[in-house]
Amino acid sequence: MSTISSLAQHIDISARFRSTRQRTLALIEPLTPEDMMVQSSPDASPAKWHLAHTSWFFESFVLREFLHGYEVFHPDFVWLFNSYYQSFAAFPEKRLRSSFSRPALAEILRYRQHVDEAVERLFNSGAEPEALKRIELGANHEEQHQELLLTDILHAFFTNPLRPAYKPETVEADEVAPSAEKGPQQKTAPLRFADFPGGLVEVGHNGESFCFDNELQRHRVWLDPYSLATRPVTCGEYAEFIAEGGYQRPELWLSAGWDAVQHNGWRAPLYWSGEVGKWNLFTLRGEFPLSRMETAPVSHVSYFEADAYARWARCRLPTEFEWEAAAEGRPVEGNLLDSGRLVPAAASSPASELVQDQSSMQRQQFGDCWEWTASAYLSYPGFRPLPGSLGEYNGKFMSGQMVLRGGSCVTPAAHIRASYRNFFPPETRWQFSGIRLAKS
Ligand SMILES: [Fe+2]
Repeated sequence: MSTISSLAQHIDISARFRSTRQRTLALIEPLTPEDMMVQSSPDASPAKWHLAHTSWFFESFVLREFLHGYEVFHPDFVWLFNSYYQSFAAFPEKRLRSSFSRPALAEILRYRQHVDEAVERLFNSGAEPEALKRIELGANHEEQHQELLLTDILHAFFTNPLRPAYKPETVEADEVAPSAEKGPQQKTAPLRFADFPGGLVEVGHNGESFCFDNELQRHRVWLDPYSLATRPVTCGEYAEFIAEGGYQRPELWLSAGWDAVQHNGWRAPLYWSGEVGKWNLFTLRGEFPLSRMETAPVSHVSYFEADAYARWARCRLPTEFEWEAAAEGRPVEGNLLDSGRLVPAAASSPASELVQDQSSMQRQQFGDCWEWTASAYLSYPGFRPLPGSLGEYNGKFMSGQMVLRGGSCVTPAAHIRASYRNFFPPETRWQFSGIRLAKS
């Protein structure tokens, strides 16, 4: 690498590091210290833990290895804020994270500052290329936790009987969830299908920019011709599925999905309360009647619900490669965390009815909500986990999970790309997870 390009890389990564660390602090501004203690489900973690764990990541994988003379902030934090890296250190059970009333929040904020100052010293002392790569990984890791912090707080506030809003509705948010009393229902693009020829296509990360190990190696796959819905399924469309007995018809469900419906008593997406004709949807902006969210993409559905809806609609879910082939090369634009909306929003209508290229008909592939795919989360040919304990980052989860694509309204824009693979077990509902239909 030339001196100039390595200097540019150094500047890019230091800017990314600082802005990521600052954004995490901005995200906790609306929260009280008590809010930051809540762990309302086994999937979620307290906001306070996210603050500490993201700092632990830089301390463990960057500072202790690459900053000469670095002293850990506190010897117990080395194991206390480890999440799941078995080969690194022991760690407490995940469900106990809400019992960490000590260390106090103020001490965790001092921990963050200690780590930030040490990373700055590393930048100033001329960080070696491997250290820069780890810092870039740490920033991407922290962005994942920014999204989790918001999805976890949404769950925490939903379980609170007062149903507080993370950020109460504002004038700008009114564009997201227009009031039926204030004007006509916001329109959404009509549901259409765009045709793709398929054939031999390349998938996986392309180029030199950052990606996670699970996006490599780029490789070829064969796709038969397919059609992809030009926008995600809306809340209004999903409400029709419920009204037509979708949750009472076992023939629409995978066997494990039907078991999950019975076991969990599912009758609507997570955060929907009320009954048919009178649904209310809880969001980071507060609770809205369905009439104000009808044209927004449905989110907080499990893979099982997405699959059952697709069967009801006489369609199917796309594979992750069909999704990626339609998204590759398109600009990463949409209702992502940077928009500040924090709620999925209705699709804009196509600029022209006379679209030339099928891929340009796609709306909302990036942002609003992650889209469940029909693909199991597996390694690509030639997959090589990162060396050492970091090899546990992605690879060890390649069993029993499904791939989601595209990011959500709480995903940082710089974080997402066409080849990005998110993954969750099929019953997961607390993420912003929605549905895009496909047909053969
Ligand atoms: Fe993590």
